[in-house]
Amino acid sequence: MAYHAWHGGRSQEVYLKDCRLIEINQKGEHYVLANVNGELHSRLIVHPLQNIGIKNSVGLGSIATPPELQNKGYASELIRGIIQILSEQRIEHIFLYSDLSPEFYARFEFQILPNQFQKQENSICMVRTQSFDLLINNPKICLLPYL
Ligand SMILES: CC(C)(COP(=O)(O)OP(=O)(O)OC[C@H]1O[C@@H](n2cnc3c(N)ncnc32)[C@H](O)[C@@H]1OP(=O)(O)O)[C@@H](O)C(=O)NCCC(=O)NCCS
Repeated sequence: MAYHAWHGGRSQEVYLKDCRLIEINQKGEHYVLANVNGELHSRLIVHPLQNIGIKNSVGLGSIATPPELQNKGYASELIRGIIQILSEQRIEHIFLYSDLSPEFYARFEFQILPNQFQKQENSICMVRTQSFDLLINNPKICLLPYL
């Protein structure tokens, strides 16, 4: 489903093979939004984050909607649903790297982290948390350039 966004010139077969090899994809939990016929409308991966210096944290990644289904609210519905699920699991901090303009994720209360947390040139690290000030002043936090 995310092939259109991240194929980088690879065939679908090679792209899927590469995805299977990426360890972080294997560790994450894959969620999809589908209709009653099982047709997939949007997807994302929730990555457990264990060694970043703060507990109860996950990362969201690989959010994608097929081009022909975009702008119908599917990614938004999925993100809202995942936020609800994660809050029921007592997850307090949800990180992501945004390849989009950050306004999209700001709709779901994600905030841009200060420069010292930014590890990628073309993606902006954001977090959704109730304790933003505490988090950004916590010297133990060490984010990786991927989630
Ligand atoms: C980003 C993406 C997942 C959105 O999926 P979607 O199902 O179309 O999202 P929704 O319909 O819920 O929301 C659409 C809104 O997102 C906005 N949006 C789409 N691309 C955007 C971008 N690059 N920057 C900012 N906002 C963007 C649209 O303008 C639209 O805004 P509106 O509600 O004011 O009209 C989809 O465009 C996609 O798969 N893109 C390619 C993969 C990608 O870049 N994923 C994000 C990685 S961080």
